[in-house]
This record gives sequence, C-alpha cells and structure tokens, in this order.
Amino acid sequence: MYSKVAVGLLIIAVYTDVVLLCPNNCSCYKLQDGRHHIDCNNQGFTTIPRNFPNDSSIISVDLNYITTIEEGAFQDMQLLTIVAIRLSELSTIETGAFRALPNLINIDLYTNRITILEPGTFKDLPRLASIELGSNQLVTIQKGTFVDLPALSSLYVYSFTDLFCKSQDICPGNEIATLQKGVFQGLSQLQELYLSGNSLTLVNNSTFETLTSLIYLLLTDNLITTIQQGSFQNLSSLVTLNMIGNKLTFVKNDTFEHNIKLQYLILLSSLQESDLDNCTFTDNSCHPDYCLNGGSCSRDSNGDLICSCVVGWTGAKCNDSSCHPGICSNGGSCSQNLNSSDSVCSCVGGWTGAACTGKRENVKEIDNGIYTAFRRKYSSL
Ligand SMILES: *[C@@H]1O[C@H](CO)[C@@H](O)[C@H](O)[C@H]1NC(C)=O
Ligand SMILES: *[C@@H]1O[C@H](CO)[C@@H](O)[C@H](O)[C@H]1NC(C)=O
Ligand SMILES: *[C@@H]1O[C@H](CO)[C@@H](O)[C@H](O)[C@H]1NC(C)=O
Ligand SMILES: *[C@@H]1O[C@H](CO)[C@@H](O)[C@H](O)[C@H]1NC(C)=O
Ligand SMILES: *[C@@H]1O[C@H](CO)[C@@H](O)[C@H](O)[C@H]1NC(C)=O
Ligand SMILES: *[C@@H]1O[C@H](CO)[C@@H](O)[C@H](O)[C@H]1NC(C)=O
Ligand SMILES: *[C@@H]1O[C@H](CO)[C@@H](O)[C@H](O)[C@H]1NC(C)=O
Ligand SMILES: *[C@@H]1O[C@H](CO)[C@@H](O)[C@H](O)[C@H]1NC(C)=O
Ligand SMILES: *[C@@H]1O[C@H](CO)[C@@H](O)[C@H](O)[C@H]1NC(C)=O
Repeated sequence: MYSKVAVGLLIIAVYTDVVLLCPNNCSCYKLQDGRHHIDCNNQGFTTIPRNFPNDSSIISVDLNYITTIEEGAFQDMQLLTIVAIRLSELSTIETGAFRALPNLINIDLYTNRITILEPGTFKDLPRLASIELGSNQLVTIQKGTFVDLPALSSLYVYSFTDLFCKSQDICPGNEIATLQKGVFQGLSQLQELYLSGNSLTLVNNSTFETLTSLIYLLLTDNLITTIQQGSFQNLSSLVTLNMIGNKLTFVKNDTFEHNIKLQYLILLSSLQESDLDNCTFTDNSCHPDYCLNGGSCSRDSNGDLICSCVVGWTGAKCNDSSCHPGICSNGGSCSQNLNSSDSVCSCVGGWTGAACTGKRENVKEIDNGIYTAFRRKYSSL
C-alpha cells in the first residue's frame, strides 16, 4: 500500500503540447489523451495559484509551503479530475474548497498538517473515488466530513509506523482517537479504508455499520483493546481485515459470523501458531488441553497465552503438582506420591478434595469448535 501511495500520481504519459496561459512558476502540459496537467510542484508557493486554466484536468502543487486551501480555489473547473497538494504545510481546508467539481476523482493531501476537517469539507462530489489524508495530524473525524460522495471507494487516513519512528517514539501523523458516530454514513461504495497508525482504542459497533461494500479494512497499529459486539456484522463484502499491532486480548467467537467473504483475518501479532491451535475466540478461554488440570487460560498484554492454575497445581501449563508451599489449602499438608510426581494433600478441618478446597474448581466448559472452524475456513491465515 505505501508504495502505491508514494507513486499515487505518477503520470505515465507523453507530453505533446505545451499549454498557453499557465500560472507563473507552473508548467502546463497537454497529455497525449488531451487532458491538461498543471504542475506547480516545488516552487516555494505559500498560497495556491489562482489563475489555473479553466480546462485543467490535473493540478499538482506538491512540495510547497501552502497552509490553506481557500474556498473556491478550484472554482469552475469542470474538467478537473485530480488535485494533489502533498508534502506541504496545509492546516486548513475551507469548506467550499472543492465545491462544484463534477469530474473530480482523486484528492491527494498526503503529508500535511491538517488537524481538523470541518463538516462539509468533502461534499457533493459525484465522481470522487479517492481521498488521501495519510500522514496528517488529525485527531478525530467528525460526522459530515464525507457527505454526498456516492463514488468514494478509497479513503486513506493512516500514519506511518515504521520501526525507526517507533523506536524514537516519534511517529508523526494522524492520531485519531475517536470517530464520530455516522462518520462513514452514506459511503455505500467504499471499498478500502485505511485507518492504521492511529490511536483508536475501541471498535464501536456503529462506526462501520453502513459500509456494505467494504472489502479491505486496515486497523493495524492502533491501541484497540475491544471490539464491540456486532462491529463488523454489516460488512458483508469484507475480504481482508488486518488488526495487527493492537492490544486485543480476546475476540468473541461470533465477531465475524456475518463476514461471509472474509479470507484474510489478521488479529494478533504476538500469538504463535501453536498457541492459536488451542485457543478459541470464546471469551478468554482456550482449548482444555492448553492449561492442564483445570487451569484457565487468558492472554497477557502481548497476546501470549498464560495459565491460571487451580489450587494444587503450578507451572506454566499447570502441569506441576509437586509439593510447593500453598499447594494444599486450608491447613492441609502435602506429601509426595512416590509412584508419580503428584503430591497428595492430607486435609484437615473437614475440607476435602485433592487440594483441600472442598471441591475442585470446575474445568470451564468451552467451545473449541469455533477457532478450528475459522482456521479451516480461512486457511490462508
Ligand atoms: C515565481 O516567479 C517569479 C518570476 O517570474 C518570481 O519573482 C517569484 O519569486 C516566483 N515564485 C513564486 C512563489 O511566485
Ligand atoms: C473556459 O472558459 C471559456 C471562456 O469563458 C469558455 O468558453 C469555456 O467553455 C470554458 N471551458 C471549460 C472547460 O469550462
Ligand atoms: C459507541 O458509539 C455510540 C454512538 O456514538 C456511543 O453512544 C457509545 O458510547 C460508543 N461506545 C463506546 C464504548 O464508546
Ligand atoms: C446492520 O445489520 C443489521 C442486521 O444484521 C440490520 O438490522 C441493520 O439495519 C444494519 N444496519 C445498517 C446501518 O445497515
Ligand atoms: C453494540 O455494543 C453494545 C455494547 O457492547 C451492545 O450492547 C449492543 O447490543 C451492540 N449493538 C449491536 C447492534 O450489536
Ligand atoms: C460462542 O460461544 C458460546 C459460549 O461462550 C456458545 O454458546 C456459542 O454457541 C458459540 N457460538 C458459535 C457460533 O460457535
Ligand atoms: C493443543 O491441543 C492438542 C490436543 O487437542 C494437543 O495435542 C497439542 O499439543 C496442543 N497444542 C499446544 C500448543 O498446547
Ligand atoms: C511441565 O511441562 C513442561 C513442558 O511443557 C515440562 O518441561 C515440565 O517438566 C513439566 N513439569 C512437570 C512437573 O511435569
Ligand atoms: C504406589 O503403587 C503401589 C503399587 O502399584 C500401590 O500399592 C501403592 O498404593 C501406591 N502408592 C500410592 C501412594 O499411591
């Protein structure tokens, strides 16, 4: 994906004609297919040039010092298909900046300093297919930011989280912690949503509920601990869901029940394949054989499986019952069974059972079927 971003606007075409009437310091070309490309890259602009030819099709103003896209910046440009203002200092997009552009297909604002998008920023653009907002400084997205965009199929609101910036604890970019309810409402054609590298802590079950065309959802490198019940239930087209690099500790077994097209489900990075074998997506429980002797299983903050043993047992998988302090409860005393490695408790005071707890804790009944079924279904995991 990142390489795609980097070359998003690569124009492979032969320039045939030079267009007259070009803004100062910009180069204007006519592409072989007849479209006009206005190239104002890397010219030290602090505002967007005003006098673009009205038949411009592609405008790029990358690598400048522009801070604001003013209302009407691209007024009356009926043929405009692509606007790119990347690697600049944009912090403000006035509402109306992209008004009345019936042929606009792609807005690319990659790497700027946008912290807030007013409702209506992207509105009523009937052919708009892609909005790139990666590597900005957004902290939230409000409802009404994306309205009347019936063709929008790709939305990129990610940050980079490469190892270098992580190791330095400086990963500049979007840090979206909240997505307002209804923020993606109406985006019935949205197929790709990139939200990686933000600060989301929860997947709220109203956030994605309208995205019935969504195929690819990237939520990697957030702080997500919880997926609310029903969060993905309406994503009937979803093929790939990647949530690596979050803080999930468990996922309920019915979370993906309705995602009949799901093929690539990537949830936890620190889990070993062998752990997964004996782990279900049911509450916090694992296959009965993972933690032995009635121990119950959960995940630590790395996602690794850990066992909590019932009284009488210790060890990483509760497989050790030799005489350790505390192995016999309620005053019972321990002696080693010479025929095996097991210990034997002699109970006092009416307590009974192997560890003198009266009744050994029940082994939790769990449904091991679901994860196995998942693995079979999504064997590409
Ligand atoms: C544009 O070109 C003119 C000369 O034609 C120059 O004086 C000016 O500094 C250039 N840069 C900008 C950002 O307009
Ligand atoms: C550009 O402006 C000229 C003169 O106003 C007009 O004749 C022409 O139709 C316009 N072209 C487009 C593509 O809007
Ligand atoms: C989920 O979103 C709804 C609607 O915005 C909100 O009322 C609810 O509090 C959110 N749930 C959590 C756990 O944040
Ligand atoms: C989501 O799906 C449920 C049933 O699975 C349905 O009742 C609900 O209306 C759907 N929500 C939207 C916003 O489509
Ligand atoms: C959304 O999540 C809440 C909290 O987990 C739950 O009470 C509610 O039933 C869920 N809504 C849907 C539509 O699943
Ligand atoms: C999910 O687990 C619960 C027990 O926690 C079980 O009753 C239910 O049948 C399971 N659902 C599926 C789809 O396996
Ligand atoms: C998982 O459970 C099976 C028994 O169903 C057992 O043979 C296997 O060793 C277990 N794997 C791990 C990693 O504990
Ligand atoms: C518990 O199991 C581990 C490996 O799974 C093994 O190394 C250890 O010796 C076992 N301990 C006892 C007391 O059986
Ligand atoms: C050990 O085994 C012998 C013979 O198999 C049996 O008679 C004895 O009761 C066992 N001892 C214990 C403490 O289980």
